[in-house]
Amino acid sequence: MTTALITGATAGIGAEFARQLAARGDDLVIVARDADRLARTAAALQHEFGVKVEAIPSDLLSAEGLGAVDARLADRRRPIDLLVNNAGYGIRGELDENSVDDEKRHLDIHVTVPLQLTQTALRGMLERGRGRIVLISSVAAFTPRGTYSAAKAWGVMFARGANLVYRDRGVSVTAVCPGFVRTEFHDRMKVGTAGIPEFLWLQAPTLVRLALRGIDRGRAVVIPTVRYRVIAALARVLPDRLGTAGRFSSRDDD
Ligand SMILES: NC(=O)c1ccc[n+]([C@@H]2O[C@H](COP(=O)([O-])OP(=O)(O)OC[C@H]3O[C@@H](n4cnc5c(N)ncnc54)[C@H](OP(=O)(O)O)[C@@H]3O)[C@@H](O)[C@H]2O)c1
Repeated sequence: MTTALITGATAGIGAEFARQLAARGDDLVIVARDADRLARTAAALQHEFGVKVEAIPSDLLSAEGLGAVDARLADRRRPIDLLVNNAGYGIRGELDENSVDDEKRHLDIHVTVPLQLTQTALRGMLERGRGRIVLISSVAAFTPRGTYSAAKAWGVMFARGANLVYRDRGVSVTAVCPGFVRTEFHDRMKVGTAGIPEFLWLQAPTLVRLALRGIDRGRAVVIPTVRYRVIAALARVLPDRLGTAGRFSSRDDD
């Protein structure tokens, strides 16, 4: 019996993790802010896959919301075997243009929220001698594209170090680095995607299938698809200026 807790499980990549984990028989604990959508998602997964799905409506950027998810992870009577730190969003503009509060919230959702949830989950998993922790990072972690890239790079370096320390104690820590995936991400960010070539888009089911393969193997970093592994490798050696080519455009309706 495995129970997985997924943050941001009502849309995009998180929703697809929920589907694929439920399809293989995992019970789920799912988290998002929109309580109605979360309840509908839980009911649909329960109905389709016959697994138990617990919903925790929560804004991870509020102390109360984060506390509720943290408390669920700390509950030793109902252990969580797999934590997927997925909830997140992109921030537009450069640091000099944005409010520091918006930037801090953005940093929190990608760094301090997964840090806290991971620490809590890790302690229980280490006691039990088994568990898996996932951070949904991005290929942006390898290219210098503003504070989003910087926040996502934290996840990669954290997973590399934590996997070294904890894997021999039964707990793997994996950063998954997707390229462009068709989800609600870019709409929510209010950026145009017309300039992104078709071959760079991944579908969430493929992405998650490849991600789960690496997670199950206990890899520290998983970059799904060969084309994105090549892009990430090139980004390490090419000049930074090339890595920032093709920035998002502002949308006309914005
Ligand atoms: N799509 C891409 O191209 C892409 C590429 C690389 C990496 N990523 C990363 O993948 C992750 C998932 O992105 P996605 O593309 O699947 O985005 P998405 O389709 O916009 O889904 C985001 C999910 O997170 C939830 N969420 C957002 N803020 C939250 C908060 N404060 N508290 C709790 N839940 C919250 C949303 O539900 P509510 O709004 O109801 O809270 C939703 O379920 C993110 O970390 C993103 O940075 C995405």
